Amino acid sequence: MYAFGDALVLRTYRAGGDVTTEAAIMRHVGRHGFPVPEVFGAGGRDLWLERLHGQTMLLAVTRKELTHDDAGTVLANLHHRLRGVPGRILHLDLHPANVMMTARGPVVIDWRNARTGPPGLDVALTALILAQVAVDPEHPARTAAREILTAFLRAAGDPLSDMDGAVAMRRADPNLSEAETGRLAAARLMVESAV
Ligand SMILES: Nc1ncnc2c1ncn2[C@@H]1O[C@H](COP(=O)(O)OP(=O)(O)OP(=O)(O)O)[C@@H](O)[C@H]1O
Ligand SMILES: [Mg+2]
Repeated sequence: MYAFGDALVLRTYRAGGDVTTEAAIMRHVGRHGFPVPEVFGAGGRDLWLERLHGQTMLLAVTRKELTHDDAGTVLANLHHRLRGVPGRILHLDLHPANVMMTARGPVVIDWRNARTGPPGLDVALTALILAQVAVDPEHPARTAAREILTAFLRAAGDPLSDMDGAVAMRRADPNLSEAETGRLAAARLMVESAV
């Protein structure tokens, strides 16, 4: 990410790639009132976006400027709003580091995994990602993650309609370490028992 003055950022993929789908989905959900950065241009590996002003939900929680309860509720509400957008759009990485708290409310960033699919998968993934932090004995945010998860599940309703799909996606994610993949079953159990 590169900032250009106050109003513009460039998201560019060093390893190459094609931002066409990412840009199209962001424009689509934005047109339907879902909070995303405005897309100013897209071509090849480059995505030109509205620069947001604020901090990530993760940072807001860390600084105790947002309670764990409110963080979980905001995440659930964002899923609910995304479900209201026509076309069964899934973000597939909707976690506290991909939400920016701005003057116009929470705004969702990082749409590179977005695609269409069953909405239950998106909710299950958020729960699983939170639980993966919560079951990591070395993670400094494990207690916070557990509390955000509890609030999220309470507000989101049943996240278990596609837990199999969520686990499969995380298992296939090359960014996860072997230790993290090894704790996936425990994370799933935590979500299921919290429900
Ligand atoms: N539109 C934006 N305006 C201002 N800052 C942004 C914007 N988009 C992203 N950022 C900043 O850049 C950081 C990283 O953004 P993003 O989550 O999109 O990429 P990433 O973290 O590299 O992707 P990944 O989460 O897959 O690692 C965010 O935490 C935020 O601080
Ligand atoms: Mg991100």
